[in-house]
Amino acid sequence: MKKVKIESTFEVYDTIEELATPIQSLIQKAAEARKKAYAPYSEFLVGAALELENGEIISGNNQENASYPSGLCAERTAVYYAGAEFPNQKIVRMAIVAGSTINPTTKPIPPCGACRQALSEYEVKQNTPMELYFMGTSGQIAASKSVENILPWFFDKAVL
Ligand code: THU
Repeated sequence: MKKVKIESTFEVYDTIEELATPIQSLIQKAAEARKKAYAPYSEFLVGAALELENGEIISGNNQENASYPSGLCAERTAVYYAGAEFPNQKIVRMAIVAGSTINPTTKPIPPCGACRQALSEYEVKQNTPMELYFMGTSGQIAASKSVENILPWFFDKAVL
């Protein structure tokens, strides 16, 4: 028997001003997308914005449904649109802003497991790390250098 240890390292910023201007602007786009989320059941609004290597910004938000499992998270709404419309463009980075309209959300909110898996597919496909930035509706911003960093030992298509 041997033990295997996997480590993840994140950066945490206290204010958005600590980040480079294009990243600040991507976070703003995610915050704007969040305001347009359709989340009448959870009242938890999430916005995502991703930047392609050609400079195009794609945003998305969570879309809920009366049949709860039919809804979709913000990250997948955005990444699937990017995959559909710009299949050959690498995704450089994604920003996510998430928070409840009922309880203030002041801690960085990382993507759910299903979204990590979906994002991982595109990171593997493009063979280039995708930076992630995530935050609540205010407060600190967390940064991950890649999707793999938040989904270590992922399900790899190489096994299929
Ligand atoms: N949600 C997202 O949009 N992204 C995540 O990574 C986690 C959760 C949405 C799904 C649902 O509409 C609401 O947040 C509450 O779970």
